[in-house]
Amino acid sequence: MSAKVRTKYICSNCGAETLKWMGRCPQCGEWNTLEERVETPAPKSMGPSLSVNLQGNAKPQKLSAIHFNGDKRILLHMKEVDRPLGGGIVKGSVILWGGEPGIGKSTLILQICHAMASQGEGVLYCSGEESEIQVKIRAERLHVNDENCYIYAGSSIDSILKEAETLKPSMLVIDSIQTMYISGVDSPMGSPAQIRDCTSALVRFAKQTNISVMIVGHVTKEGNLAGPRILEHMVDVVFYLEGDRSYQFRVLRTVKNRFGSTAESGLFVMEGNGLKGIEDPSRYMLRNRSDSAPGSMVVACMEGLRPVLVEIQALTVHSVLAIPRRIAAGCDYNRMIILLAVLEKRARIPFSSDDVYLNVAGGFRVKETAADLGITLALVSVKKDIPLPRGLMALGEIGLTGEVMPVSKIGPRLKEAVKMKFSRFILPEGNREEVTDFCKSSGLTAFMDSVVFVKHLSEAVEYIL
Ligand code: TYD
Ligand code: MG
Repeated sequence: MSAKVRTKYICSNCGAETLKWMGRCPQCGEWNTLEERVETPAPKSMGPSLSVNLQGNAKPQKLSAIHFNGDKRILLHMKEVDRPLGGGIVKGSVILWGGEPGIGKSTLILQICHAMASQGEGVLYCSGEESEIQVKIRAERLHVNDENCYIYAGSSIDSILKEAETLKPSMLVIDSIQTMYISGVDSPMGSPAQIRDCTSALVRFAKQTNISVMIVGHVTKEGNLAGPRILEHMVDVVFYLEGDRSYQFRVLRTVKNRFGSTAESGLFVMEGNGLKGIEDPSRYMLRNRSDSAPGSMVVACMEGLRPVLVEIQALTVHSVLAIPRRIAAGCDYNRMIILLAVLEKRARIPFSSDDVYLNVAGGFRVKETAADLGITLALVSVKKDIPLPRGLMALGEIGLTGEVMPVSKIGPRLKEAVKMKFSRFILPEGNREEVTDFCKSSGLTAFMDSVVFVKHLSEAVEYIL
């Protein structure tokens, strides 16, 4: 029986299949994304059955009769990875690493391979994207050269699992799931069906052998249909490596973790020889801060459970355009528009004939409304050309009526600010009680003298002017 060779066109954006080439994908509407694939479908009988039935012969057991000696974990001694993992890699767990192409997933995973291999744990790194030589070049750059680290360049999950069964490593890496295929599935590499079935085979393998599996998956900004999103429910842990590629700063965000808290995140800086954990994120973010120029303000944001101080920079110039320009980098554009409207209406500071630019220094993304007050004061400061005191910090969410509302986790934020030598604070009246408690518990008796509590935006504006 000879298998029929077929040509198909697959959209690299959404995974849609067509039989003839088109300029535009009929499913997602992207231009020039259809790529030719020649495929020889494998006979159906060769394929393993792929439902995630871990043990077909399982019987119900009494909960009290199940014995458990704590989950067995391997500590990587990479703080920024161990913590989001919940204290190291759980044996037999499946971890999905999502992120845009080029953000640093392969780099971080190779560093993790090194952390494992240097403890005598075997690692099998399978790359469907790069040749052994390419992986070797990257490894040299990262100074990774371990005896226990095996590299395999290939795309067949069947062969990879066979090799892993013989080699019996502690960890199997699949980089990336979009470049893998499994026999018995009549769809091209990278299609949702292939991705799903490859993953379910890997999940089964991990649970049966107790070998941890790391799966890399690319996502586009739009959250590609064929990307790792469809896999989130199948795996134990889901991480997203995020960042702006024009900056070195990266955040490892936990989206799901069956063995730890999703509130934890890891912070890194991409350097010439790999990703380095950031021990003191506030110091890193404020390292280039110049002496207070008008429009510069520092706010304390929470990144997971950690407070990070970041500098907000605002610039306004008289606009020559009919519709003034507004640009927000590192913070939400719509939020900026709302804050400008509130400033105009509630504090009588008009921006309607100004171009407004807002930037968060260092590649950090401000997502919290706790930064509202800081952002508005930065805008007022540059508009009035008055620099804000260097040691000043403002926190508070701003409502449409101009009221300043309390922020969560004020204690950790203030503690970080005090550590970074901030000495004057504008805080929401609604946080007064918590701030008093914070002073008592931290033994900062004179702290209350340095705080101005405000109820309304106009009070804060009056204070800085
Ligand atoms: P990579 O890990 O290949 O990204 P992904 O696997 O997520 O696609 O990272 C690629 C980028 O990282 C590339 O632009 C070069 C940069 N890089 C460094 O800055 N330092 C390094 O040590 C390495 C290995 C890569
Ligand atoms: Mg890669």
